[in-house]
Amino acid sequence: AAPPQPPPLPPPQSPPPRSPGLPTAVNITWSSINFKTILRWQPKPSDYFYTVEILGEMLGNTKNDLTTETECDVTDVLRNVRETYTAHILSVTSSRMDNFEQPPYAVSENFTPYNQTILGKPEIQNYTQKDSKMSIVFKDPLTPYMFPNGSFQSVRDIFKNDLEYKLYYWKDQSSGKKDATTKSNKFEINVESTKNYCFYIQGIIPSRSKSRTGQESMVLCTKYGTEVFIILAAVAVAVLALAIALPVILCKRKRAKLAREKQPLNGP
Ligand SMILES: *[C@@H]1O[C@H](CO)[C@@H](O)[C@H](O)[C@H]1NC(C)=O
Ligand SMILES: *[C@@H]1O[C@H](CO)[C@@H](O)[C@H](O)[C@H]1NC(C)=O
Ligand SMILES: *[C@@H]1O[C@H](CO)[C@@H](O)[C@H](O)[C@H]1NC(C)=O
Ligand SMILES: *[C@@H]1O[C@H](CO)[C@@H](O)[C@H](O)[C@H]1NC(C)=O
Repeated sequence: AAPPQPPPLPPPQSPPPRSPGLPTAVNITWSSINFKTILRWQPKPSDYFYTVEILGEMLGNTKNDLTTETECDVTDVLRNVRETYTAHILSVTSSRMDNFEQPPYAVSENFTPYNQTILGKPEIQNYTQKDSKMSIVFKDPLTPYMFPNGSFQSVRDIFKNDLEYKLYYWKDQSSGKKDATTKSNKFEINVESTKNYCFYIQGIIPSRSKSRTGQESMVLCTKYGTEVFIILAAVAVAVLALAIALPVILCKRKRAKLAREKQPLNGP
């Protein structure tokens, strides 16, 4: 038998990563639906922290606190939706916050919310099929941004005339799809009065070159001669509002905690 091979040399072991050898973030992605935008990256930090710096033309730059997370809700910072933003994800040891060296960082791709956020599902409110007329009423998805009076802005409040909706409909049990387009919140189309139809709706921004089409609404089917009110709609709005509010609250809580932890350092 061949003599056992000497074990391969272990790769040179660097001491546990310390500045300036900290790993920098990779796989940085922007995920954005209806202007709610989350920045994500990898890897999970072991013994260091990340700080996210958002740079924009008008914004200058804004930093968040140290985090051991690998995502950050940046919705609030990207308020000026037509601006193009870049994120720097800095890798820092906590002690480095006290000196003035530039920590190592990774740079994200550019992100322009107005051009890149995905349109969420439109919410269908009610629909009827009477004689040969099918009518569908739906609502614009809401964004996390508010008017000064505290009500949420919808995607239409932001996209205005750039926003359209497309209806896809077909006879129940058949596959031939037809479509219609509107700039309002209502479709009225002619159908065969003795057939049931199924449909879904999707937002579209025709002026975009990428991400033109949004998420599809649920598929619903008519029963001719009846009117359906979607009672679920109210529940869906409440859930949506919660989904928007929650990460912000978490973020604040974390910030508050970090601030508290820092305070003793500032003391005498
Ligand atoms: C980055 O993404 C690639 C492809 O999805 C994956 O193989 C790789 O493990 C990721 N990097 C890290 C550090 O997770
Ligand atoms: C949908 O509901 C609105 C208000 O509740 C009502 O005015 C409208 O006629 C309804 N539309 C259809 C197609 O039933
Ligand atoms: C808040 O202001 C917006 C825009 O001015 C308006 O469209 C909306 O109806 C207002 N909402 C309330 C609840 O007053
Ligand atoms: C955003 O989209 C508009 C219209 O397609 C285009 O003119 C503009 O250059 C885009 N902006 C960026 C930063 O890509």
